[in-house]
Amino acid sequence: MARERIEFKTPEQIGLMRTAGLLTAAALESVRAALRPGISTRELDAVAAEVIRGGGGTPSFLGYHGYPASTCISVNHVVVHGIPGEQVLAEGDVVSVDCGAIVEGWHGDSAWTEIVGEPRDEGDAELVEVTRQAMWRGIAALDGRGRLNEVGGAVEDAVAGRLGIVDGYTGHGIGTAMHQAPEVLNYRVRERGPRIKPGLVVAIEPMCTRGGDETDVLDDEWTVVTTDGARAAHWEHTVAVLDEGLWVLTAPD
Ligand code: LMR
Ligand code: MG
Ligand code: MG
Repeated sequence: MARERIEFKTPEQIGLMRTAGLLTAAALESVRAALRPGISTRELDAVAAEVIRGGGGTPSFLGYHGYPASTCISVNHVVVHGIPGEQVLAEGDVVSVDCGAIVEGWHGDSAWTEIVGEPRDEGDAELVEVTRQAMWRGIAALDGRGRLNEVGGAVEDAVAGRLGIVDGYTGHGIGTAMHQAPEVLNYRVRERGPRIKPGLVVAIEPMCTRGGDETDVLDDEWTVVTTDGARAAHWEHTVAVLDEGLWVLTAPD
């Protein structure tokens, strides 16, 4: 099978992507500040949409293959692609918010998982923290300038068997579209993958569970849940490889 070509970016283009990344970060920061027991996922979605539009951007998720909202909000055993709606958050819920903004045609894509108030148990806190560390270890692996599949090896090493790594969902190239080549796996494979070189921009996004790696999609054709009902977490940043190092484009200023 022919591989889709990777769109390598110039430093100028990466600068434009930073604007989209910062707006994505600002939207997610506002959602984080609004997170509390009693708020609905629809209200959180509105917070993100307002920040993105207020900053002169467009929410990239809205209308994407018909998707009806500006964020994905995935609670507890929902891994990704939870649709914001009537669901009201409660103390101890594990909430993943994924969001993307387009500015002047360039995309940002980022996600975090937070616990509402106090964690229900130690395991939930570990789920969130280990997944976050796995994302950063995956990002750091880009700086070795080796091959892209080293990212998945780094994610797997960071998780160290403590969590399930969700099968079938990956990170991706990003730029003038939210999803581009190459795929970025979250686990180790034999194949080495493309060379990591300046101009590569990818979304690194491990998705982990307190149980197994299998998921199902609900009848709404979006919501991805763990098959075993275990709670899940998802962290994501858009990262550019530059001559001089890495630039996490969706990290707040
Ligand atoms: C992603 O991180 O790629 C999401 O924001 C969108 C998707 O389809 O998963
Ligand atoms: Mg995302
Ligand atoms: Mg993504």
